[in-house]
Amino acid sequence: MIYFKNVSKIYPPDVVAVKDVHLKIEPGEMVSIVGQSGAGKTTLVKLLIAEERPSKGRIQIGDWDITNIKVSEIPILRRQIGVIFQDFKLLPKKTIFENVAFALEVCGAPDSRIKKIVPQILEIVGLEKKMHRYPDEISGGEQQRVVIARSLVHAPKIVIADEPSGNLDAINTDEIVSIFKKINELGTTVLLVTHNREMVNALRRRVVTIDRGSVSNDQAEGNFIRQ
Ligand SMILES: Nc1ncnc2c1ncn2[C@@H]1O[C@H](COP(=O)(O)OP(=O)(O)OP(=O)(O)O)[C@@H](O)[C@H]1O
Ligand SMILES: [Mg+2]
Repeated sequence: MIYFKNVSKIYPPDVVAVKDVHLKIEPGEMVSIVGQSGAGKTTLVKLLIAEERPSKGRIQIGDWDITNIKVSEIPILRRQIGVIFQDFKLLPKKTIFENVAFALEVCGAPDSRIKKIVPQILEIVGLEKKMHRYPDEISGGEQQRVVIARSLVHAPKIVIADEPSGNLDAINTDEIVSIFKKINELGTTVLLVTHNREMVNALRRRVVTIDRGSVSNDQAEGNFIRQ
């Protein structure tokens, strides 16, 4: 369970980015987080991965209170959460296989394990046949799928995508939606931060709307609501 308990975040000196957020997300849920630009969505993501600290309130993942998490424990937290940020970057001189493998190599995974896991993960996103290509030899949507694959290498309990469909067109939106559904069906909690109304409506899952730092709407199987 992800639990934000009356969380506020004030960036110095006085920017109130998140205000009194009270939010519970059960294991295995798939939730869209929507809201206008500047509403505080990315700040919520950063609080969850301890890239920022709350100014007030508590944050828990399961029984683990990460409000005052020690710096030495942050890597343990990050391995449990796969994050896909909007400004994704692939390493241009590495193949698709190598880009995904890299996330395992830096953690000291043995070659045999890498050779086994990477093709399995690339199959989830439908790119196993293109794994020896370089990023500039695949489409923008396929590059996005590589980034999703990369977030899965540690078999995280939670996957968070911050604006996963960026400027991509509707065809890619459908593909990305079906990939996240697949990841969710494997038992992973999925949080999708997005402006994409089509994607939210296609998911037919819970929608949490953030408005000026606070939860203004929380609907099971909801639709995108304009503020
Ligand atoms: N490091 C920072 N220092 C100061 N203010 C910040 C910082 N990061 C974000 N903010 C401010 O906090 C508020 C929330 O920003 P945040 O990035 O969480 O919004 P968002 O909902 O993700 O927006 P978008 O949809 O544009 O990505 C904004 O007013 C933003 O300007
Ligand atoms: Mg953002």
